[in-house]
Amino acid sequence: MSRRPLIAANWKMHGTVASVQAYLEALVERVAGSGPEVVVCPPFTLLPAAVLIATGSEVAIGAQNCHWEDAGAFTGEVAPAMLAELGVRWVIAGHSERRQYFGESDATAGARARAAQRAGLDVIFCVGETLEQREAGETLAVLERQSTAIDGLDPAHLALAYEPIWAIGTGKTATATQAQEAHAALRRRAGEMLGESASAGLRILYGGSVKPDNAAQLLGERDVDGALVGGASLDAEGFWAIIHAAPGERRGAEE
Ligand code: PGA
Repeated sequence: MSRRPLIAANWKMHGTVASVQAYLEALVERVAGSGPEVVVCPPFTLLPAAVLIATGSEVAIGAQNCHWEDAGAFTGEVAPAMLAELGVRWVIAGHSERRQYFGESDATAGARARAAQRAGLDVIFCVGETLEQREAGETLAVLERQSTAIDGLDPAHLALAYEPIWAIGTGKTATATQAQEAHAALRRRAGEMLGESASAGLRILYGGSVKPDNAAQLLGERDVDGALVGGASLDAEGFWAIIHAAPGERRGAEE
C-alpha cells in the first residue's frame, strides 16, 4: 500500500476564464505522471474552460462544492452528475468556509460527499478546529466528530484534508508537529470508520496557509500526504513550487 502525494489548488471565489486558461496551459506542460497528483478547483463558471485544457493531461479538475441530490428544486445548487458530465473529476466537501458562512453541517457535508461518489467523483473531505477549540484542548475530539461524516464513503475515491480554521487565509500555519499529530489522529479515526487497510492508503492533506517556503517541511511529515492550497495556489509559480516540494516518490504506508 502506498500513498501518492496529492496537491490541490482551491481557488475559492477568484479567477476569470482568461486566467484559468493561462494558468492551466502552463501547469499541464510541467506536471508529469510520476510526481504528485495535481488537482485544480476553480469556481463553477470556470470549470468548462479548465476541463477543456486539462483533458488528456496529468492535471485533474475539481469543483469546490456540490449538492446531495441528483436533481431537483434547489435554486443555486449544482448536482454532482452535472460536474461529472463536464469532465470534472474531484469535488471538495465540507470546507470550513462552507461550514462557517453557509450553514454546512457534518451531516450535509457527508451527504454531499456520498452524492459526489455516487456520480463517480473523487472527494476531498475537509475537517478542522477553530482557534477556541484548539485552545480548549478539543482539537482531536472535534476531528473525531467531524470525521464521523466519512462513514459509508468509498476510501478509494476519498482524501481527507486537515484544515485548522485558524490557519486558513491568516498566514499562520500549523507547525509540522501540530499537523502530524492531527493527521495521525485522523488516520486512526479513519481506520475505525473505513477499516485499517483503507486507512493506511488514505491520503490526508494539510491545508491552511501552505506556501512555497513552508510546504517541504509540512509535506515531510509521515502522515501528511499532500496539501490543499488556497491563496498561494492562485499564483502559478507559487503553486508549482509547492508541487515541487512534495516528495516525488510514492510513500510506502509502512515506512
Ligand atoms: P489558504 O486556504 O491556503 O489560503 O489558507 C486553504 C483552504 O482554505 O483550503
